[in-house]
Amino acid sequence: MIATMPININKVQKSRIDNVDFENLQFGKIFADHMFSIDFEQQTWQNPRIEPYDKIQFEPSLLAIHYGQAIFEGMKAYRTPQNEIVTFRPLENLKRLNRSAERMCMPALSEDLFMEALQQLISLDKDWVPSKNGSTLYIRPFMFATDELVGMNISETYRFMIITSPVGAYYAAPVKVKIETEYLRAAKEGGVGYAKTAGNYAASMYPMKLARQQGYDQVIWTDSRENKYLEEFGTMNIFLKINGKLLTPETGDSVLSGITRDSLIQLAKHMGVEVEERKISIEEVIKAIKDNTLEEVFGAGTAAVITPIALIGYQNTQYTLKPLDTNSLAFKLKKALTDIQTGKAEDIFQWMHKLA
Ligand SMILES: Cc1ncc(COP(=O)(O)O)c(C=O)c1O
Repeated sequence: MIATMPININKVQKSRIDNVDFENLQFGKIFADHMFSIDFEQQTWQNPRIEPYDKIQFEPSLLAIHYGQAIFEGMKAYRTPQNEIVTFRPLENLKRLNRSAERMCMPALSEDLFMEALQQLISLDKDWVPSKNGSTLYIRPFMFATDELVGMNISETYRFMIITSPVGAYYAAPVKVKIETEYLRAAKEGGVGYAKTAGNYAASMYPMKLARQQGYDQVIWTDSRENKYLEEFGTMNIFLKINGKLLTPETGDSVLSGITRDSLIQLAKHMGVEVEERKISIEEVIKAIKDNTLEEVFGAGTAAVITPIALIGYQNTQYTLKPLDTNSLAFKLKKALTDIQTGKAEDIFQWMHKLA
């Protein structure tokens, strides 16, 4: 339908790009010149528009603020050596957005609408896609309930938006993590952990704050029933290499199905590495640390790409892991993935999509 509904474009009078220090980008602090918006009203998406990035105005009774009916995605645009702007598996993000939308009683977006919005917004702001190695344009699509009334109802109106931000590395150094067994992020069987919805992140903030006070950077969430099995990090899926095999917890309704996770599984299998998606108990990890068969632990996600873990805290013990060098699987997978994403290696899985 959107193919016949043109996007109204209102360009900035003067770009802010000259004020940006592309050599020192912090994550998610500055935003490109334009934003995309479309409203869902009277049961249909209408008024697609690209405008200068600016404040948005709603009444204090905005439903999303009070009841958290809000979802989002995280993607990136990359600049290739041929100066093309490409993005990675965008339809996987759309599928996940629509799964989140269904769980949160929000309207779905069509492929045409999503891809057209992405294409036009990124083309317009293509100069904002960094060229420095490791820097990218982070893309944040999101949707929120826009009914203005205080009352616990499913909103009848929504806004979907896309904003973009040039970013550098998410974590500058290997991270220290704590296995969290007291608080939980998402409940099994009926919970919302598989949805990328605002409340999941809000629920994780207090345990994250406590972990930071104890000197950690992140937590590893464990299952809500027994606190016995690893689930994921706050913003990344988890991988372990034990005895030559690559292991990652199976996804279910309490774990976000990461697109990086899925891609690394495919890449590792392609490299001939044995991969197991299954339950991984804390006991198995501690045993592997003790008998020296735990070779690597790393997080994987769009924002952080692949992040090596330097230390794991569990109960009152801290286990320091050996640093990962260029021979590690984590390093090889990161190189293979980012080389495809930045157009330096052949796109053997047909993951890349040209935007500009
Ligand atoms: C909770 C959580 N787990 C995992 C991921 C990794 O998912 P992806 O690889 O699709 O970015 C993210 C990031 O979106 C996340 O927020």
